[in-house]
Amino acid sequence: MLSSNNSNKDQNHNSTILVVDDVGPNLELLEAHLISEGYRVETATNGKQALEVVEKSPPDLILLDIQMPGMDGYQVCEKLKGEDHTRLIPIVMITALRELEDKIKAIDAGADDFISKPFNKLEVLARVRSLLKVKYLNEQLDTAENVIFALAQAIESKDKYTENHIERVSQYSMELARSLDLSATDIDAVYKGGQLHDIGKIVLDDSIINKPGRLTREEFELVKQHPLVGYKICHPLKSVRYALPVIRWHHEKLDGSGYPDGLKGDELPIAARIMAVVDVYDALTTKRSYKEAFPPQEGFRILEEEAAKGWWDGDLVRRFKEIRLKKV
Ligand SMILES: [Fe+2]
Repeated sequence: MLSSNNSNKDQNHNSTILVVDDVGPNLELLEAHLISEGYRVETATNGKQALEVVEKSPPDLILLDIQMPGMDGYQVCEKLKGEDHTRLIPIVMITALRELEDKIKAIDAGADDFISKPFNKLEVLARVRSLLKVKYLNEQLDTAENVIFALAQAIESKDKYTENHIERVSQYSMELARSLDLSATDIDAVYKGGQLHDIGKIVLDDSIINKPGRLTREEFELVKQHPLVGYKICHPLKSVRYALPVIRWHHEKLDGSGYPDGLKGDELPIAARIMAVVDVYDALTTKRSYKEAFPPQEGFRILEEEAAKGWWDGDLVRRFKEIRLKKV
């Protein structure tokens, strides 16, 4: 028991908690509880001061009193949760009232948890411990996801002609998925799939990516590896798991003549079928190293012709045409 407490305390030395309360004795009590567990503690007695402390050195967690003169706890919370660099800091609101209304307001402001006065030391410490754990997990996830998205952007920039391609296909595919009332999982799959579908092009030489004119058979064999390479890169990352079928199968065709797996018809999930259609549409309607841009109408004429050949889902092409042509 003793050794586990000590190891907790050792870990806590790395965490800084900001306590914000305008009432001196409350501040001192919380500070004492936290220091006794090995946390580093910063204090602030009003909202403005709290924001200054966070700006100077962001803490790992904030205990925030609601009722304070001037800027109150809700406003501080809303501000911090609205900024990209502070949104992951967990905020525990301190309330003297047990009113439901207060809690709802705090949830609306983005608070992660509440504690009520008078404080119970064990309860305060348990909340702090569990929220810090969640924060560190979120940070790891955020970092891993950011790295993989940044990598996808970097790979896109190797191609002189596909500027903003991944952003466009993400948007097109989300518009199409939403218009079909697909699930949140499918929408997540097409959005992240749009961002990541060509990440496997990392294995391709710039000279192949930017080659004007036709690829040789050997070069095309290399290009055909990119969905599988992308799948393998993203596979360990749980937060992009729904996008994996999109990454792997965005070059499949319904008649089984696509790559890398030669899947057919219903074997292809809807998110992958959507990506196949919008990816080809974007390739047709933008300038590439090997061709000029076609106007949208011509892009859809070609897509319809290819759907009739059995390559793409004809219903998806029709629906996409309806929503896209309204916007051009
Ligand atoms: Fe691709």
